[in-house]
Amino acid sequence: MTSSTPSPDPIGGDAALRPKTLAEYVGQHKLKDKLSVYLQAARGRREALDHTLLFGPPGLGKTTLAHIIAYELGVNIRVTSGPAIEKPGDLAAILTNSLEENDVLFIDEIHRLGRVAEEHLYPAMEDFKLDIVLGQGPAARTIELPLPRFTLVGATTRPGLITAPMRSRFGIIEHLEYYTPQDIATNLLRDARLLGFGLHEDAALEVGSRARGTMRIAKRLLRRVRDYAEVAGETAIGLERAHDALEKLGLDTAGLDERDKKYLEALIHRFAGGPVGVDTLATAISEDGLTLEDVYEPYLIQLGFIKRTPRGRVATAHAYQHLGLPVAGHPDDGLPLFVN
Ligand code: ADE
Repeated sequence: MTSSTPSPDPIGGDAALRPKTLAEYVGQHKLKDKLSVYLQAARGRREALDHTLLFGPPGLGKTTLAHIIAYELGVNIRVTSGPAIEKPGDLAAILTNSLEENDVLFIDEIHRLGRVAEEHLYPAMEDFKLDIVLGQGPAARTIELPLPRFTLVGATTRPGLITAPMRSRFGIIEHLEYYTPQDIATNLLRDARLLGFGLHEDAALEVGSRARGTMRIAKRLLRRVRDYAEVAGETAIGLERAHDALEKLGLDTAGLDERDKKYLEALIHRFAGGPVGVDTLATAISEDGLTLEDVYEPYLIQLGFIKRTPRGRVATAHAYQHLGLPVAGHPDDGLPLFVN
């Protein structure tokens, strides 16, 4: 189970403010509609929910949703992550220790599970049994350990790295989408109310519209904006303060920060707008390719600022326009303007 210790950093985080029920979870409407049916059905049958794979960019609330699933089912949740399960023994320890009938096992970053551990997970998911090998060589024997029926909730930012056999064992596969500024504002207002500080609706929307559609980022921005408001002696965060603080944080109107701008500027100025391979681009801005793919690019793609092509990354006309650069001669010249 999760700890109930108060978080030292309350706006970001989590424990105290984390919604418990699906009704409190803001946004992701299509996903919530489906999930509420699956949860109701599983509850009605007093069964474990089917194994569930949640994927989408970081910071959208996959972990929060896993906790909600457990809460809504009235069961316990065990939390671990792919990199923490290196050997089959690690998996056996988790599965045989304190997992009860219908409980949820949450594996974050499930794409980083080791291959051998993953193979041991298959019979656990499918037949609720674990094959344990005792001894070595000719004397080795396998014993079969029965497990309680449980729900595996896996979360990943990289669904393409989930192997086909793994993917096929999930009965529910759902994508989390970027949040609208309105959804983010709704959640920030709720957090402010729970924490007892003043936040005006238009200020919440301002933060929401610069948070790259990501709850986690919005909460972090709100913490910084609140710092500025408090130091200025204000008892509530208004639009002007939010706007001002966000400018100071280096966020532009599309929510791009200095790193995003560095990415786009390198792509445009050093590689003539592309195409350029992701690793070359990563080296140019002292990052690694995976960070570019997982953290920078999903939002830039969502905004229509870059494209991933077989020959590498390409900046679109929208990106040129956003940076105030002439688009004439750009291959995407004919594209409609990006509307914020
Ligand atoms: N925390 C993270 N994601 C959330 C959401 N969608 N609604 C409410 N709180 C959240």
